[in-house]
Amino acid sequence: MRAAAEAAALARELRRHLRDAFEDDIASVSTNFAKTPAFGSSGAAPTALTGSKEEASQKLAEAIRACRSCPLGRARRNAVPGEGSLAADVVFIGEGPGLDEDRLGRPFVGRAGQLLDRILASIGLSRDAVYIANMVKCHPMKDSSSPDSRGNDRPPSPDEMEACRGYIEAQIRLIVPRFIVTLGGVASKALLREETPISKLRGRWREFFLEGLAAPIRLLPTYHPAALLRQPELKRAVWEDMKTLRDALGGSGCP
Ligand code: URA
Repeated sequence: MRAAAEAAALARELRRHLRDAFEDDIASVSTNFAKTPAFGSSGAAPTALTGSKEEASQKLAEAIRACRSCPLGRARRNAVPGEGSLAADVVFIGEGPGLDEDRLGRPFVGRAGQLLDRILASIGLSRDAVYIANMVKCHPMKDSSSPDSRGNDRPPSPDEMEACRGYIEAQIRLIVPRFIVTLGGVASKALLREETPISKLRGRWREFFLEGLAAPIRLLPTYHPAALLRQPELKRAVWEDMKTLRDALGGSGCP
């Protein structure tokens, strides 16, 4: 009960913080931030936002780097806002930064990230053509007094993902991708707000509804690359899922 109240208070604080950080940008980028609770509301269709989209993305990254709204923000070395093309057709979403990502402030740069690069390449995509982000922007650690030790990673908790949710939703509203690919059970279940195991979710298109967007976004859950490193037998399923994505992109894989 107390934890829920604290989480709700954290979420309120985060929303207030984001609103302040974005006050100046809301007018110029309102088309895509439409109706994000954290960003106020407005509702026009997405149009020529290129310049201000960049600016909004930078402001968002600054807000993420300044964020101390949950305990993860206090322990990490670097926040990891996300990176890639703001015009991407596909946004890939993992669970949260690990040690390598924490050191560099960039998503998916460790072993799982190298495998993700190869998965992208297998369908003709590159990091520059897509956008890569996480449900939480700061490194979830088992022991936060030991931020430099390997093997100290853990999945983000539901409360931590809820506290950070405004950021990934803002990124989705900014980019408005055609497709979202969630990597692993933690991100898939959190974004879809359901408990179905990843073995059942993967490979099936879902619709992701986000308030303020004119239409739902098609979302494809698949296994996390780190799971493939532990269980190579899952690679076949991910390959099937990537072919599904490639077909939806129009065959070539290049958006
Ligand atoms: N795992 C994730 O979920 N995200 C990263 O950025 C790296 C590893």
